[in-house]
Amino acid sequence: MPELMLAGDWLGKAAAALHSADVPRAMAEARALLASATGETPSFLFAHPERTLAPTEQVQADAILMQRISGAPLGRILGVKEFWSLPFLLSDETLEPRPDTETIVQAALDHAPSAQPSVLDLGTGTGCILLAVLHDLPAATGVGVDCSVGALKTARANAEALSLQDRAAFMAGDWGRALKPGAADLIVSNPPYVATKHGPAPDFATAAYDPELALYAGADGLNAYRTILPDLPRLLAPGGVAVLEIGIHQMPQVRALGEQAGLEWVEARPDLAGIPRAVIFHQRPQK
Ligand SMILES: C[S@@+](CC[C@H](N)C(=O)[O-])C[C@H]1O[C@@H](n2cnc3c(N)ncnc32)[C@H](O)[C@@H]1O
Repeated sequence: MPELMLAGDWLGKAAAALHSADVPRAMAEARALLASATGETPSFLFAHPERTLAPTEQVQADAILMQRISGAPLGRILGVKEFWSLPFLLSDETLEPRPDTETIVQAALDHAPSAQPSVLDLGTGTGCILLAVLHDLPAATGVGVDCSVGALKTARANAEALSLQDRAAFMAGDWGRALKPGAADLIVSNPPYVATKHGPAPDFATAAYDPELALYAGADGLNAYRTILPDLPRLLAPGGVAVLEIGIHQMPQVRALGEQAGLEWVEARPDLAGIPRAVIFHQRPQK
């Protein structure tokens, strides 16, 4: 019978292999992979390098290590991604939430028109923006809309897992078309914004693992904004606020689309790399 491997030895080998494949935070990722294969927590594995791996655990750990080295994102392998310090389940129909999108959550919390807003998340995916806002505003309620039934199933599962199901509803729809006027005080959205004129998304993991519906928005990447922004004055309640994510270099065009729709420009917020990432508009006061 082959000798059983210890967790610490597997972690050392795996971290070296990940490091050689240019994976950042190689040891942390190795621990996350071994935790997934063994059912232990990463901190347990850190504290117990002497833990013996069963042969089935080692086979499973080796298999997911190979996936990671081949370029699969960690979140896709584990089926879960941390966002706003909360765990979000993923599925094939959802975008993997990005750290940049936390800029939208922070801007929404800072600009929320009250402590108990009704929130509308257009293109909710995993539900990450809506559920993060509801998590931090315990008196808020919200609706997440998506045209992908698979994504909505995942968003509902995330609401349940975070015990937010009583304050979050999810519905299928084409952006906000089916919703009543004045539906929300706070509208958040991270629509698709990758331009197709340059071909598929340049990042391998994005192009290979995120659904096309979540990424691409016409030749210049602005098609979703062209549909969403003109409808926001109708969807926002008086005094309402909209916070939208944008891609690099899109601020002037998205600002113009919002102002043409009759919204009042407030500001753009940068992400951690200093790139304008969140645009904020107010409902114009009624004359
Ligand atoms: C960039 S992803 C954002 C997902 C999630 N909000 C996040 O930030 O990670 C855009 C989402 O919009 C959805 N979507 C695309 N076209 C749509 C449409 N016409 N109506 C509603 N949702 C749409 C996609 O299915 C996808 O979930």
